[in-house]
Amino acid sequence: MSLYKRQEISKKRQTKVIDLRSDTVTQPDLPMRQAMFDAEVGDDGYGEDPTVNLLEEKTAKLFGKEAAVFLPSGLMGNLIAMMVHAKQRGGEVIVGSKSHILLWEQGGASQIAGLQLREVRNMADGTFDMAEFLEKLRPEGPDPHEPYTTLVCVENTHNYCGGTILPIEWIDQLGKFVKERNIPLHMDGARVFNASVGLGIPVERIARHCDSVSFCLSKGLGAPVGSILTGNKSFIEKARRARKVLGGSMRQSGIVAAAGLYALDHCVDRLADDHRNAKKIASAIKEIGSPCVTVDLDALETNILLVNVNLSGMNAGDLSSKLLQVDYDDDDDDRSRLTAVRIVQINDTSLRMVLHKDITDEDVDLAIGKIKYVVGKIDAHNG
Ligand SMILES: Cc1ncc(COP(=O)(O)O)c(C=O)c1O
Repeated sequence: MSLYKRQEISKKRQTKVIDLRSDTVTQPDLPMRQAMFDAEVGDDGYGEDPTVNLLEEKTAKLFGKEAAVFLPSGLMGNLIAMMVHAKQRGGEVIVGSKSHILLWEQGGASQIAGLQLREVRNMADGTFDMAEFLEKLRPEGPDPHEPYTTLVCVENTHNYCGGTILPIEWIDQLGKFVKERNIPLHMDGARVFNASVGLGIPVERIARHCDSVSFCLSKGLGAPVGSILTGNKSFIEKARRARKVLGGSMRQSGIVAAAGLYALDHCVDRLADDHRNAKKIASAIKEIGSPCVTVDLDALETNILLVNVNLSGMNAGDLSSKLLQVDYDDDDDDRSRLTAVRIVQINDTSLRMVLHKDITDEDVDLAIGKIKYVVGKIDAHNG
């Protein structure tokens, strides 16, 4: 079929792209943009941006901490937490084997902070293998050969474990345990509000035994930019210095902080919709009953859905390409077949879908229709 004809059909049938790659792909809606437009601003380099100050005060209070600092990204929140808690170069930071800090932050701990990451196996729920953790923990001692543990980092919700929520008792116990050994605990809470909504408890309760927590305004909360790092006053003072040297100090950043304030006021409770939509898609995949494409419905707690792919002669990437493909030769008017679903390949056998505020009920139904269509074809082909 000619390109022109395809374009005509595409226009007529309105090919729809449903983007489930991440909750970072959202568009700020009109009221959020209005809040940004209306924001009172000043030079945050002098601490004079009233909107940034308000956002920092509000988030510190929400997390039950003394202070907070506004940052451009979640990565910077984690990096600064490691730099400040470690106090000096040469320390060791314990992280999970599937953590974002270990896998997706360019080794900033070593590249920039002069620290080494020590990985402990993540269990399926995002917690640590505790026997391995105890073996790897190295409190400060007299042996000059050994680096000692200067920080422990946990991730909540846990992205690559499939958006799992860390059990509150586990965080509490871990926090108390490391505190007795004079080791701080940092939570990469990029999606901690998903954990809060999932458990129905405030973020303050989740953060109670953590010395610092970072979270992202630009993920499920739907703001265009921004993350926050919270902790005690002296920690945040040092974090501000670290932000400066990393080039993360901004000026009239109240423009973006206003979106963050709007998100905290209006976009937290609605995260439950994303969790419900993830469940709806997972249930539909389970219903298909394909031996090739499966989900663990019981493990699904928030907005991140991992899909297991077991296909002979095809890997997870091939399946994700098929979900994206639209067959213009197909005369069927079923709109789901004219839907392109974008998702992320994690490895050869797993895919990730992330639900977010720009995915409507209709999008969910269309995505389910497309998944059923593609998986049905694969199953038929495999006999
Ligand atoms: C768990 C987790 N931590 C940190 C980050 C980093 O956030 P940013 O992209 O704002 O640097 C991400 C981003 O996806 C994440 O999923």
